[in-house]
Amino acid sequence: MDRTFVMVKPDGLQRGLVGEIVSRFERKGLKIVAARFEKLPESRVSDQYREHISKPFFPSLKQYIMGGPVFLMVWEGRNVVSIVRKVIGATNPQEAAPGTIRGDYGIDIGRNVIHASDSPESAAREIALHFKPEELCTYTRIDESVLYEY
Ligand code: RTP
Ligand code: MG
Repeated sequence: MDRTFVMVKPDGLQRGLVGEIVSRFERKGLKIVAARFEKLPESRVSDQYREHISKPFFPSLKQYIMGGPVFLMVWEGRNVVSIVRKVIGATNPQEAAPGTIRGDYGIDIGRNVIHASDSPESAAREIALHFKPEELCTYTRIDESVLYEY
């Protein structure tokens, strides 16, 4: 099964959206296999967003992500990386479709509520950055036999 890394950013957490966000992924049929509430150290924020280090928005991005605790999760399911990117919506909440998390809850690109890995390679890297292998739980959801066709 595929896995992806998801993080409710400090604005999403302060606004009390963790439960709503977890519910949306649960209702989709995805399976949560790890979670942790944490205020991220600078080194891990820089590593998480390393492809953006040279960009003009990086200092404000780092300040934003370090501005409060975040909720880190690993979700599992078939094609979960692309499914979760669709559920969260476009990077800029003003362009994100209604019904997506960013489309429903965000306004500014620099306060876009949630992060999710953008490829299976990023997902593997980001999961390993934030979680030890033993923190990932393997279990069967009771509805798995009806959720998947094969
Ligand atoms: P994320 O990594 O947080 O899931 O977001 P994303 O893939 O949709 O977008 P990405 O291009 O990776 O950008 C990372 C985060 O940086 C902030 N950003 N600000 N001011 C700007 O032009 C700008 N561009 C990006 C956003 O918080 C974005 O989620
Ligand atoms: Mg990204």
